[in-house]
Amino acid sequence: MSNPVLLALQNVRHSATAPASPEAHAIAHLFWWMLAVGGAIWLLVAATAIRSAFARRGAPGDDGLMRVSAETHTRLQRVVIGATVVTGVILMSFIVFDFSVGRALAAFPAQSLTVDVTGHQWWWQIEYEDPNPSLSVTTANEIHVPVGEPVQFKLASHDVIHSFWVPNMNGKRDLIPGYRSSIWFRADTPGVYRGQCAEFCGLQHAHMAFLVVAQPRAEFTRWLLQQRTSGATPVDSLAVAGQQVFMSGSCALCHTIGGTPAHGTVGPDLTHLASRLELAAGTAPNTRGYLGGWILNPQSMKPRTLMPPNPLQPRQLQALLAYLETLK
Ligand code: CUA
Repeated sequence: MSNPVLLALQNVRHSATAPASPEAHAIAHLFWWMLAVGGAIWLLVAATAIRSAFARRGAPGDDGLMRVSAETHTRLQRVVIGATVVTGVILMSFIVFDFSVGRALAAFPAQSLTVDVTGHQWWWQIEYEDPNPSLSVTTANEIHVPVGEPVQFKLASHDVIHSFWVPNMNGKRDLIPGYRSSIWFRADTPGVYRGQCAEFCGLQHAHMAFLVVAQPRAEFTRWLLQQRTSGATPVDSLAVAGQQVFMSGSCALCHTIGGTPAHGTVGPDLTHLASRLELAAGTAPNTRGYLGGWILNPQSMKPRTLMPPNPLQPRQLQALLAYLETLK
């Protein structure tokens, strides 16, 4: 397999038990402690239940009822009281542990890179804020973050409730229409991580994924500078023809390509489509074959997505693909 996109997608990580940020570490730590203590208690209770099921009983009295001696009664009473106290102590300890993790996660850093994330049925709009609006960046379904720096995500929804979840980085946070919520994390291990909408939001909820690319600062800056540029101007004649297909057809009504007349805002910004690893919010790898199939008939890959079928002539499709591939 030599396609760089497919190679990169082979190493995508997606697991809450493989933390790649201090925040996810804290959550995983709490989880393992709860599992270990809860598991030990369960084993103890199960063993006691089995033991008492097979315990030898005395003979019933004349009235058919069991009798226990006064000493046994006192001993059993102590066992029950002791077990109740131990249960209370364990529960209280976990409450304190849980609160301390919650507080650490809620302590938003004063200085952080800010990324606006808007949930749509069924894709993620991603915007990197900048005090100078001409330097802000809009992309979709792929978030790049610099390793070792806190990044704050401001969450909003365009339609229904979605939930932002990158298991390797932090817990979940809902995106609620008309309400702003936020979450943050500081990636400490470079890599590509999968995020997933974690709140049922319609038929294609499962196809509402995204990627988090955690990379060293220099690489991140290079990426950000590239994303700030306008869409590439095609030179090759096939790509020039493809740009015409894009601008004169229905594509430009829904999508934006920076530096061109295409300013649609219904669908994802395509200015740097070719720099992204996946298509349609994690539905397929961003390769020529999938992109062609997606353009011709998105409904076959993601039924009920807003994008309509585009019955292009083979020549038009090849030109359009050649143009889209220049949008690095
Ligand atoms: Cu968006 Cu589930």
